[in-house]
Amino acid sequence: MTSPVARLSCSPTIETLQSRLRIDGYAVAHGHIDAGLIANLRVETDALLGRFAAGDRSDDFWCYEDGSTGRSMLYRVHNLEKQGAAGCADLFRTAVLNHLAAALIGAVRATVCAMVVKTPGVAGVPWHRDRIDVAPGTAINLSVFLDRATVQNGCFEAVPGSHLLADDADVPRTHELGLRVAVPAEPGDVLIHDVRLIHGSGDNPNGELRRSIIIEFASETSTSQTG
Ligand code: NI
Repeated sequence: MTSPVARLSCSPTIETLQSRLRIDGYAVAHGHIDAGLIANLRVETDALLGRFAAGDRSDDFWCYEDGSTGRSMLYRVHNLEKQGAAGCADLFRTAVLNHLAAALIGAVRATVCAMVVKTPGVAGVPWHRDRIDVAPGTAINLSVFLDRATVQNGCFEAVPGSHLLADDADVPRTHELGLRVAVPAEPGDVLIHDVRLIHGSGDNPNGELRRSIIIEFASETSTSQTG
């Protein structure tokens, strides 16, 4: 099944982002992070990729072994704020994303920080919901894109409105029956999605590295993070 592509031509206002988040469960703030900060974050995350390439297999470097090549495939660096990368830690603790999250869902706290990385050849992420132990609109994930994300290198895909489905919604059946929308992004874009949204991403067979830094923000009234 091919996926339609949704993309706004210019950065929407907070009100537009709020409306899209409420109705669709996701929205994109285009060009929200300036090029200088993106360049710095690329340097820091290059160093982390270098550590993995050099054999670092700490618990925060999440990888799997490719059955056909035997290669270790990195797909996530967990606890990113604890990896000695100052710009990444700032993004988690104090900087611009907190203001965006607060404007969207009220007073918030950052709860989880990670780098999602699609190394060339890595498999996609199966359809899932990040968590369902919170009400719609009370916990969101913000993804800062460091590289271009396209359909060809496995960009984010979502079922619009699925954040409003019941906790026990059948995820595989919903994405097969529902509208699946691919959400490409450019460096500096921030993708916002409700943690309840049904989403996934494709494989990256075309060899273009794609990194994003993902941070969860939860409103003060939501339940605490569980995993
Ligand atoms: Ni997810």
